[in-house]
Amino acid sequence: MTKRKEGEEKDMGKVAIYPGSFDPITYGHIDIVERALEIFDKVIIAIAENEEKRPLFSVDERLQMVKAFFKDTPKVLVDSFKGLLVDYVAKTNAVVILRGLRATSDFEYEFHMASMNRSLNTHLDTLFMMTSKDYFFVSSRTIKEVARLGGAVEGLVPDLVVRRLKEKFKLPVTKKKQIRWDD
Ligand code: PNS
Repeated sequence: MTKRKEGEEKDMGKVAIYPGSFDPITYGHIDIVERALEIFDKVIIAIAENEEKRPLFSVDERLQMVKAFFKDTPKVLVDSFKGLLVDYVAKTNAVVILRGLRATSDFEYEFHMASMNRSLNTHLDTLFMMTSKDYFFVSSRTIKEVARLGGAVEGLVPDLVVRRLKEKFKLPVTKKKQIRWDD
């Protein structure tokens, strides 16, 4: 549990912080948030301003896409942060860090991150939720790759994200051309 900051006015109930790059947000992320809302009173989606990761979308673009999706969900707050996650968490009243796990391949990275965060703030725990079977193969990285190459990502990311990806990659709206091997 994180220590409450002095002078914190209102009790917002149990708050979880869901940090990530969200470059862009996918239905895998959204599934985690929706399931977390069954456990927590509020979820703060905290978008990392990690320029060294050379994101496709600027932090403002990412904020806009996430805010648009959750505009009718008052239990979700969307914010961005710079620097250490533990420092950002300390400024909120979140009691736990929330992360999704898709497969064992995620485990090592997540284990190191959770352990580092706990070493930086011994009061802060990370809670992992397994991604639903429908989205275990979905990652922002593969979404970008598929979209860049003109593949369909509908149903894996919100419609607004599909449109933003098409704009980013300047994809022409062309009819599919059949390859004929006898040409
Ligand atoms: O979606 P991602 O890219 O896997 O999210 C990673 C993120 C943003 C949660 C992580 O890189 C992070 O917390 N960055 C902030 C800097 C920090 O606190 N680093 C120390 C933790 S190892």
